[in-house]
Amino acid sequence: GYEIAPLRGTTGNVTYDPGFMNTANTTSAITYIDGDAGILRYRGYPIEQLAEHSNFLEVSYLLIHGELPTADQLSAFDNVTRRHTLLHEELKDFFGGFPRDAHPMPVLSSAVSALSTYYPDSLDPYDAEHVERSTYRLLAKVPTIASYAYKKSIGQPMLYPDNNLTLVENFLRGCFGVPAEPYELDPDLVKALDTLLILHADHEQNCSTSTVRLVGSAQANMFASISAGVNALYGPAHGGANEAVLKMLRQIQGGDITPETFMEKVKNKEDGVRLMGFGHRVYKNYDPRARVVKGIADDVLAKLGGDDELFEIAQRLEQKALEDDYFIERKLYPNVDFYTGLIYKAMGFPEKMFTVLFALGRLPGWIAQWREMIQDPSTKIGRPRQIYTGATERHYPGV
Ligand code: ACO
Repeated sequence: GYEIAPLRGTTGNVTYDPGFMNTANTTSAITYIDGDAGILRYRGYPIEQLAEHSNFLEVSYLLIHGELPTADQLSAFDNVTRRHTLLHEELKDFFGGFPRDAHPMPVLSSAVSALSTYYPDSLDPYDAEHVERSTYRLLAKVPTIASYAYKKSIGQPMLYPDNNLTLVENFLRGCFGVPAEPYELDPDLVKALDTLLILHADHEQNCSTSTVRLVGSAQANMFASISAGVNALYGPAHGGANEAVLKMLRQIQGGDITPETFMEKVKNKEDGVRLMGFGHRVYKNYDPRARVVKGIADDVLAKLGGDDELFEIAQRLEQKALEDDYFIERKLYPNVDFYTGLIYKAMGFPEKMFTVLFALGRLPGWIAQWREMIQDPSTKIGRPRQIYTGATERHYPGV
């Protein structure tokens, strides 16, 4: 009983594909996923090899520039990002405007958006030099913003970054260091966080990355586009899942519900409850990132003495799911977020910071995808069509 509006500017046919289950929005040379085989590669390199042998800075370069850097290129990239970690002093005041217990994700997206106001002269998306500047400003400043958001949420003074440190070291010091006291970096912790960031660095056209591309297709600058990506990532069906997993595990640990009853609830789809950290739009096999994450969880929890009980509950839930027809038939496996929260918790991060850590990791992927989109001459403004289901023409009362 509704009419379909004529579709102008098309060949007359339109694809109705809610959730873009079968629609490719772009070509891309950045990330390859074979969801059935459980394969993930950045620029052709298997994720397992990068996780073991590379580091986050090098992977960021690879994603953004397409090739692994030479030693000189890596050193220049390291240098330029180290020298841009400081935020404008006035931007610091911005953090004071949020409530004390503000969730750091909206603080992060707001501050990233605010960066446009500090660099109005270098935002032209078609000027290669401007794009380069926005790239290193984002890579360098987002970890500082994230650590400021964390310090703000716990009422501690913010620490200026120390340019002797790498981005990951600076971020850890920025979160856990105290002014006027030396902060001793734990190399195992630095390595574990660095590897987790590599695992999150890109994942082709996921919800936040597609958002970055869509906003960017309107020629919005990189800060505006990536701020939108941070907001998309905040959702519990996407990056917010790592926080949701821990809430779920604590609910079971607290005795509110047994793992068995919880799984029954999930399978009966009661109250829309899902096994958080399970399932993926593309992976219909074990998420290759989740395998690496599980190895890190073993190491970090053994070293830092994480919450063994929560880890056990998670492993029990995984085991139950892997043996259960409901999950087998739907090809639901642990995704990257099933175990990350336990690691972040053992590292000392509160739950509110989990999705921020995901954002830090995804940042080079967003940048690489935005740059690829803007440099592609076939890019058009993203503007999907719709199937109109509202009222047909009717008359205003009295007309
Ligand atoms: N627990 C229970 N059932 C699930 C789950 C889950 N975690 N995930 C999917 N299903 C079921 C659905 O109910 C549906 O069942 P049905 O066929 O009987 O209706 C079927 O599996 C297919 O699920 P869809 O929601 O259609 O799959 P989609 O590809 O749209 O969703 C998503 C993928 C959002 C990741 C989903 O699996 C989910 O909600 N997982 C939990 C949240 C989560 O972990 N998100 C993180 C994703 S990874 C990332 O962003 C890093």
